[in-house]
Amino acid sequence: TDPAALSRVLLGWYDRHARALPWRVPPGDDRRPDPYRIWLSEVMLQQTTVAAVKDYFHKFTTRWPTVGALAAADDADVMAAWAGLGYYARARNLLKCARVVTDDHDGRFPEDVAGLRALPGIGPYTSAAIAAIAFDRAETVVDGNVERVVARLHDIHTPLPAAKPELTAHAADLTPNERPGDHAQAMMDLGATICTPRNPACGICPWREPCMARARGTAALLPRKTPK
Ligand code: ADE
Repeated sequence: TDPAALSRVLLGWYDRHARALPWRVPPGDDRRPDPYRIWLSEVMLQQTTVAAVKDYFHKFTTRWPTVGALAAADDADVMAAWAGLGYYARARNLLKCARVVTDDHDGRFPEDVAGLRALPGIGPYTSAAIAAIAFDRAETVVDGNVERVVARLHDIHTPLPAAKPELTAHAADLTPNERPGDHAQAMMDLGATICTPRNPACGICPWREPCMARARGTAALLPRKTPK
């Protein structure tokens, strides 16, 4: 199936089934997401589940509603608010990044991957996620959910991590020029709610017809992983 048709079907599913998340603008709503909230949520989500992040996200955005407010916070207050999320280097980088955006970029996040990548604590994943979701750039966002979805769609048995370049290339093929931000979020929602690690709900998947692993009965075995 051609990538444009696959993405069209996925976006149709997302229009009906997108998860309502505190940092997300629902599909069909004309407003752009707040880059500050997208950045904050993506940094928090790197180490924690959506369920656990929600309360922290609410606490942070209530206390520090803008990147400028966060930049002006006391370090100790931010570290205390982060307690429980773990990986404290991320909280330090969070503050550093808020201060660079506020002091050097007039409080506005760069809109492209190169500009975002230059900020403290922002790597390839986070820069692609912010560019796609906040600024609707046609960037490909690859996390564990996306790797699993793509491995199954194409029935790829090469184990991770060796399969990463191949999976990333397939994910890039699927990225549309229209609504790339919604496409990225739809891929993550599909992986989180239907194409789950165990007991995938293939019967209600928008990609049940084109999915190669479903056709071959291998979905639950994928992605394979090289033992540590
Ligand atoms: N996991 C990480 N980022 C996410 C997002 N933007 N939507 C859903 N799940 C996510």
